[in-house]
Amino acid sequence: MGRPYGYDEPVSTENRPVLVVDFGAQYAQLIARRVRETSAYSEIVPHTMPAVEMLAKDPAAVILSGGPSSVYADNAPTFDTELFTSGVPVLGICYGFQVMAKALGGTVGKTGTREYGHTSLTIDEGASSALLAGTPAEQSVWMSHGDAVQQAPDGFTVTASTQETPVAAFEDQSRRLYGVQWHPEVHHSEFGQKLIENFIHECAGIGTDWTPGSIIDDQVARIREQVGDARVICGLSGGVDSSVAAALVHKAVGDQLTCIFVDHGLLRAGEREQVEHDYAGTMGIRVVTVDESERFLNALAGVSDPEQKRKIIGREFIRSFEAAQLKLVREAGEAGAEIKFLVQGTLYPDVVESGGGEGAANIKSHHNVGGLPEDLNFELVEPLRTLFKDEVRAIGLELGVPENIVWRQPFPGPGLGIRIIGDVTRERLEILRAADLIAREELTAAGLDREIWQCPVVLLANVHSVGVQGDGRTYGHPIVLRPVSSEDAMTADWSRVPFDVLARISNRITNAVPEVNRVVLDVTSKPPATIEWE
Ligand code: XMP
Repeated sequence: MGRPYGYDEPVSTENRPVLVVDFGAQYAQLIARRVRETSAYSEIVPHTMPAVEMLAKDPAAVILSGGPSSVYADNAPTFDTELFTSGVPVLGICYGFQVMAKALGGTVGKTGTREYGHTSLTIDEGASSALLAGTPAEQSVWMSHGDAVQQAPDGFTVTASTQETPVAAFEDQSRRLYGVQWHPEVHHSEFGQKLIENFIHECAGIGTDWTPGSIIDDQVARIREQVGDARVICGLSGGVDSSVAAALVHKAVGDQLTCIFVDHGLLRAGEREQVEHDYAGTMGIRVVTVDESERFLNALAGVSDPEQKRKIIGREFIRSFEAAQLKLVREAGEAGAEIKFLVQGTLYPDVVESGGGEGAANIKSHHNVGGLPEDLNFELVEPLRTLFKDEVRAIGLELGVPENIVWRQPFPGPGLGIRIIGDVTRERLEILRAADLIAREELTAAGLDREIWQCPVVLLANVHSVGVQGDGRTYGHPIVLRPVSSEDAMTADWSRVPFDVLARISNRITNAVPEVNRVVLDVTSKPPATIEWE
């Protein structure tokens, strides 16, 4: 049976990405993820990339994202229209829809009213839309715009409208050009994912042959080519990204890899064991642990300013790492070649957020604290550079990385050091470690680990409050619980943890940790607060 819309064979995205053109919206990454959920490979490119360069990538399809500008603003991002005549299927979303309309001779103007949030959409009767096929005539979509397309360009059929926006979607199936005013990528748009599937599979004829797993063989080959028979090191943080990156490199070059795990004394209970036993033991990867807690705690003595703490921890991290790798080289003796390569668990959002260029300049300062020194003159090996977090988890599972590491919640590189408000001492670390362990145990027992993005437990070491225990007055410290839900840590909401779970945590902490006589819950979203207290 033939395929619809003129495709004989499903198009593969293995070497032909779906390009998502970023017009400066926060949605480009979300669009790229949604495309990958349809089993097609996608990449984000800036709108400033000339059309010839985009076409040189031989894209299977192109999606133009939304953006904050008005197409009529003086410095509005413009777009090379060559793409629209190239025969590549294009979907314009929001601003991208207006750009397409204007470029092809339609008109765009101010509606007078802004549509923002949930809006009721009606598919035009008899529209026979390829993009909206299989979705109901009335549906709720998520809008965010001031301008609107007033007249579709010649050759286009208008397929849907809302009360404020008569031209809410259009398409020209013969030219394979499609556009919608709303945001199908956000989950508030009821049939958004169906629309993206329709565009990918039906309008662009793309098959379903890409999975995160299909990247493993490709990456293994690339790593072998890059590294040859040289030695490689990886700074392991215990988190999912560096663990999966190391597992991939180990699959590629085996014992040429040595991982270094720096115990800075700011770890949570059981973390060192988790890395040494669960990870190294299961994966057969050589992990060298260096106990540097003395070095870090001495350097942090008397420091309570958060930025100072971060700087000190970052600096001492590099020193520890340098010492560890020098030792490795010495151990290997004359015959053991110098270590030239450093593995980093850089993810796609990090690459995109830092401008998409190459190399160490892309790494956010956060990451350097996680074990990734930037001034060590290594050549970087970054096998996760094209992947999102959930895809990294899928690969980790496929590579046999233990589930408790694959599903680990994010934990900041500076560790408990930025969860003690006040200066960091061994005693305070012990208090916080005990409280944190109880909170984690209870949240896990309640089955909330995947629902909660992370739950910082914070010791207000410079605050005292009065309590009563037994017959006596106490003057102890409060512990703050900060459970949050989030998709990417850029924004977050406080998690509605059931009261009985909170009650158990509070009870156990105040019973087991004598220095704590009060447990409080942080009920602030991000923004205005951040996730961590420091
Ligand atoms: P904030 O507090 O900025 O946190 O809302 C966002 C995410 O980043 C983590 N975080 C850090 N991670 N080094 C890290 O490796 C840091 O200095 C750092 N500060 C915050 C935080 O745990 C959350 O997931």
